[in-house]
Amino acid sequence: MDLGTRIEAAMERAFELTCTHAPPRLAEALRHAVFPGGARIRPRLCLAVSVACGEDEPRLGDAAAAALEFIHCASLVHDDLPCFDDAVLRRGRPSLHREFGEDLALLAGDGLIVTAFEQLARQPTAHAARLAELLAIIARASGPAEGIVAGQAWESEDRVDLERYHRSKSAALFRAATSCGAIAAGSPVAPWAACGELLGEAYQVADDLADRIGDCATLGKPICRDRTLGRPSAVSEHGLLGALAHLDRLSLQARDSIPPCADRRSLVELFEFVVARLCPPAMRHAVERVLACEREPDSDSALSA
Ligand code: IPE
Ligand code: IPE
Ligand code: MG
Ligand code: MG
Repeated sequence: MDLGTRIEAAMERAFELTCTHAPPRLAEALRHAVFPGGARIRPRLCLAVSVACGEDEPRLGDAAAAALEFIHCASLVHDDLPCFDDAVLRRGRPSLHREFGEDLALLAGDGLIVTAFEQLARQPTAHAARLAELLAIIARASGPAEGIVAGQAWESEDRVDLERYHRSKSAALFRAATSCGAIAAGSPVAPWAACGELLGEAYQVADDLADRIGDCATLGKPICRDRTLGRPSAVSEHGLLGALAHLDRLSLQARDSIPPCADRRSLVELFEFVVARLCPPAMRHAVERVLACEREPDSDSALSA
């Protein structure tokens, strides 16, 4: 079974176990948050690492992958709320609060966080210690010290360290994804944690670039939110060219830090795909066009080219 099919099957199983008996409108909202998904990057990383580490209990990896994606979907639902990024579009559809109201969006996000852990905790396994470690790793990546909650909370502080902000709001879950793959297969975690974190940092820099020069139709979400809301971003901190250089540095470091494993080439390709998803070659050309326009403010020929 290919990883995409495996992920959707794991997500459906997890959803069935925890969400289908919710009150009907909440059940509908939960489904809207999870299906159809986006790129499913975090569960894909988890399962790809698990396979590369020679997994011996695939259902444990599946449940961890579903938990990671539930947490991610919850973070998007909450992130789009008016009190955060006030975004009307997500994955090319109305964001959850636009479709179901803020009350159900809040509850759906909360519900997904809780059910992420429930379905993982209920996974039968011959490896109880691995299961406990998976739960702890995903909790840490979601939480208020160095996880998604911390990342969103940095936006309420007067001073923000960009790398710390990026690490918490995005890279923590990437770090958890590669770590969970290793844990599910009973392999040492540290080297996998490091490469996942670097990839997550690169991904958020690419997202900052996409927010500035991507297009809404392709991304399926609004652009220019960072500038409008005064969010810290790689573009505001380093400029367009600086952000692109930072992205390339991080991507290379991430790729080079993938530990030796079976079929390492497939993982290198997956890492490259992840970065190119938000920063394809066309976006690099767009950076050049924007810079050309800035150099010649009287001419809009470069942008319309
Ligand atoms: C969006 O993540 C939030 C960021 C960390 C940039 P994705 O780009 O992975 O979102 P989906 O799941 O594919 O929609
Ligand atoms: C990404 O936040 C991380 C989350 C916790 C959702 P962003 O606000 O940068 O992500 P997008 O651009 O809305 O997907
Ligand atoms: Mg945000
Ligand atoms: Mg946002």
